[in-house]
Amino acid sequence: MSKTTVSQLQKMKQEGTKFATITAYDATFARLFDEAGIPVILIGDSLGMVMQGHSDTLPVTIDEMAYHTRCVRRGTQNALVVADMSFMSYSDPATACRNAATLMAAGASMVKIEGGEWLCETVKQLQRNGVPVCGHLGLTPQSVHVFGGFRVQGRDMEQAEEIYRSALALQAAGIQLLVLECVPSALAERITKALRIPVIGIGAGNSTDGQILVMHDAFGVTSGYTPKFTKNFLAESGDIRAAVRLYQQQVADGSFPGPEQTFN
Ligand code: KIV
Repeated sequence: MSKTTVSQLQKMKQEGTKFATITAYDATFARLFDEAGIPVILIGDSLGMVMQGHSDTLPVTIDEMAYHTRCVRRGTQNALVVADMSFMSYSDPATACRNAATLMAAGASMVKIEGGEWLCETVKQLQRNGVPVCGHLGLTPQSVHVFGGFRVQGRDMEQAEEIYRSALALQAAGIQLLVLECVPSALAERITKALRIPVIGIGAGNSTDGQILVMHDAFGVTSGYTPKFTKNFLAESGDIRAAVRLYQQQVADGSFPGPEQTFN
C-alpha cells in the first residue's frame, strides 16, 4: 500500500471508484483503519461530542485538535490525515494560518474548515502558505446555533443554490477536497458532478465520490440520538475489522448509504 495523495483520490473520482473514509481520534483506531486501507482519516472536531461528552463541537480548542492529531498521526502510515480546525480558529486568514500551522506541526497533511464563499480568501492564504484545505458545506456543525439545531440544509431552492455556488467558489479558491454534510441527495449529486475535486458525503446520498462516518456511529456506540444517515456496521459483522470491511464494501458497491440513510 502507498501513501494516499489527492491525485489518487482524484483518479478514483474520474474512474467512478467510490471510497470510504472515517474519523479517528487515537493511534489504535487510526492504525486499524490505516491497515484496512481507508484512504482518508479525519480527526473531526466531533471529538468534542464523542470523546469529551459535549452536546456540540464548539468547546473544542485548537490545542485539543493538535493533541488528537498527534495521536492519529502516530498510528497512520498511508492514509491522508485531515484535521478539523476548531470553532473560531479560522475567523480571519491570519488567524487561520497561525492555527493551521499548529495542526500541520502536529502531523496533519490537510486541514478542514466549515463554511461557504466567505472563506475563499482564507483558503487562498492557507494554500499560499503550503496548507492543503478541505472544505465543508451543508450542515456545518460549528454553525449549529445559527441553524437552530442539527438540521438538513439545502432543502429550499435559495439555500441549495447558495451551497452550490459556495462549492464552485471554494474549488476555484483552491480547496482540494469537499465534505458535504446532510443535504438532499439530488443537490449532492449536482455538486459532485460539477466539481473536479473529490466530494465526500455524510448524509448526502450515494452519488458523492466518497463517504465519511464518525467512527462511533459506524460501530453503533454513540450514546443517545443516532442520526438517520449513519449505520451500525458492527451489528452486522460482530467484529470491528469486519465492520470496517463491510463499510468499505457497501460504499464501493453503492449500497451504503441506502434510501433509509438518505435525505430527499
Ligand atoms: O467533525 C467531524 O467528525 C466531521 C465529519 C462529520 C465530517 O466534520
